[in-house]
Amino acid sequence: MNRLFKIYTVIAVVLAFSINSCTTGKSGSNMAESSYDSKIDSLMSLMTLEEKIGQTVMYSGGWDKTGPTVSANNKKYIREGSVGAMLNVFSAKGTRDLQKIAVEETRLGIPLLFGYDVIHGHRTIFPINLGLAASWDLEEIENGSRIAAEEASAEGIHWTFAPMVDIARDPRWGRISEGAGEDVYLCSEIAKAYVKGFQGDDLSANNTILACAKHFVGYGAGQAGRDYHTVNMGENELRNTYLPPFKAAVDAGAETFMTAFNELNGVPASGNKFLYRQILRDEWKFKGFVVSDYTAIFEMVQHGFATDNKDAARLAINAGTDMDMMGEVNRMYLKELIEEGKVKKETVEEACRKILEAKFKLGLFDDPYRYSDEAREKETIYKKEFLEAARKSAASSLVLLKNDKKALPLTKNKTIALIGPLAKDEENIIGNWAAAGDRRGRAVSIFEGLQEYVSKTNILYAQGCDIESDDESRFKEAVAIAKKADVIVMVMGEDYDMSGEAASRTNIKLPGNQTEFIRTIADAVPNKQLILVLMNGRPLDLSEENLLADAILEAWFPGTMGGLGIADVLFGAYNPSGKLPVTFPRNIGQIPIYYNMKNTGRPIPPDNPKEDYKSNYIDVANTPLYPFGYGLSYTNFEYKDFKISSKEITKTDKLIANVTISNTGNYDGYEVVQLYVHDKVGSITRPVKELKGFQKVFLKKGEHKRIRFTLTAGDLKFYGYDMKFKAEPGVFEIAIAGSSDFDFKESFTLKND
Ligand code: NOJ
Repeated sequence: MNRLFKIYTVIAVVLAFSINSCTTGKSGSNMAESSYDSKIDSLMSLMTLEEKIGQTVMYSGGWDKTGPTVSANNKKYIREGSVGAMLNVFSAKGTRDLQKIAVEETRLGIPLLFGYDVIHGHRTIFPINLGLAASWDLEEIENGSRIAAEEASAEGIHWTFAPMVDIARDPRWGRISEGAGEDVYLCSEIAKAYVKGFQGDDLSANNTILACAKHFVGYGAGQAGRDYHTVNMGENELRNTYLPPFKAAVDAGAETFMTAFNELNGVPASGNKFLYRQILRDEWKFKGFVVSDYTAIFEMVQHGFATDNKDAARLAINAGTDMDMMGEVNRMYLKELIEEGKVKKETVEEACRKILEAKFKLGLFDDPYRYSDEAREKETIYKKEFLEAARKSAASSLVLLKNDKKALPLTKNKTIALIGPLAKDEENIIGNWAAAGDRRGRAVSIFEGLQEYVSKTNILYAQGCDIESDDESRFKEAVAIAKKADVIVMVMGEDYDMSGEAASRTNIKLPGNQTEFIRTIADAVPNKQLILVLMNGRPLDLSEENLLADAILEAWFPGTMGGLGIADVLFGAYNPSGKLPVTFPRNIGQIPIYYNMKNTGRPIPPDNPKEDYKSNYIDVANTPLYPFGYGLSYTNFEYKDFKISSKEITKTDKLIANVTISNTGNYDGYEVVQLYVHDKVGSITRPVKELKGFQKVFLKKGEHKRIRFTLTAGDLKFYGYDMKFKAEPGVFEIAIAGSSDFDFKESFTLKND
């Protein structure tokens, strides 16, 4: 390029930026008109069409032992100004080096945006997202994502591809591990907590990052639990169940959205105008940008929706997919498509504008290296307080599924037989999508964690079996130590990559011969207490284990400090408080099973569940093994004196629901108090129960508290047959309970006014 021209251009750009100097990019501001408009106008007036298209292109770097790698080709494209963002490149140095190319070697010096999958922690890994959801602790979830943002931003990352807010009701689907489970309200509240944690109050601060609500939409409803699979659902289910967590993310200020791999009612998400133009932009007024999921744009060819890659590029940009992640189609075809009149220049300009706006909000035009600071990186990652938060989070994500004969907590003076393929594990324990988490050497195993409470000599260890094999040769050794010990702790479960992307299973039992192994131990020491600790990324069929173990502790994949968090719970330093965010079926044939199903015209009579010609199975009960919202504590919580403020409310009234919770056991502890309603008759049928609120309350032993919820007609709204969002007058049942397994006893009427 002509040197003089470059100098002129840079001066012009600097002038243009400083004319309308503007400082902050408040999170939540995606609802407002951009305060960066004039700066963006100035910049865009200097950009060629190719450079504008370039902003809509994202490529991936790789990673080797010494740090991030970026192919020569991608560097060439960056130099040409044909790349707006990179993924899979992080570390202060790696991002700085690459940013330098964008800033110093391109015509306009527009900085790159670095995106990465910061899903449940960055370096300090928190429990997998399903585990985080089991804590029902919004403050903790927000704090965990703030910590993730601190660490990620210190390593040059500007943007996380999180939260995943897909409702998931099929445990076969591997990605159920990445979301907040099956419930609309819980998922929506958690979506907001993640967004707030990542983005903070001020995006221009260098320790906050852009959030990305994904995968829009319906990804969790793929047929047969297969990843990337077809989704067919009525608009009604879409609006009442699958969309609300995304809407919550928009309301919380999420700056970006990601498309989904699946098709929805015949239209692949990345080319779905109805989703991106009508719902997201027109109805919800989302002002941020949308990135495709990986190669989802050109996958529309395989879907049979686009004739070729060029056609896919046309469909995607016209539908409102602003950035092309790894698909190569925007770089290759957008210019041609504009010249041919198949895509309007303004459509590409609009996409470019939104991407530039995100860069302005992050302050990258003030200092493109502000996230790439090696000193900050060193002092930030694995900070002591982050590790402590991860330990607390691990403990609060655990769900006690069974605790017969008060098998737990353990007492310190006993000899423990610690058995199982995950007992000493430091690799699987951080779970799937722990992208930057060290798989070895950093995470604390259960074996190590227990040593905070018992001496090493009191822990007898045997692996006994593998996660997935039929080798029984080591059963004997495990039986021998079980016979010597006072109590047995078996740590079993799935491999970390049996859940997550492309990890669907048709069998949701413990893999390999683990169940047989548990039975062997249980049979060998029938009078000793057998505690089962499970690590898994999905609800499992635990019907047999439920009969074999005295206590079952669901630990999901608890993260870097998992071993300590588990030990804290096993020894009662932390009284378990987790509640299931998703139903555990009795067997795979019950799927889909979730607490807020519809009733059918032939519901089963409670006193005769096997009655003929009712909606039941002939071989298994309709009820799950462990219901949504369920989880035990070492103490007991009693619910008494449930009262509502009125038997009738108008559309402008508030209904107050109160209950007294008493801690009647011997331990202090948290209880997750849940508010449910049932809209008895609707213009379309309504679920048998719907969660409408929850509070996580701490009660000392012997203490009681009056817990109060406020409900308005707004909380009772749903999309009816006419797709209008409204509350319908009529009778609503209402209850406050410690899980979704209860019978309603109280009701109120919403009047017509
Ligand atoms: C594909 C996954 O579906 C998505 O969730 C992720 O963010 C991207 N790959 C980038 O890694």
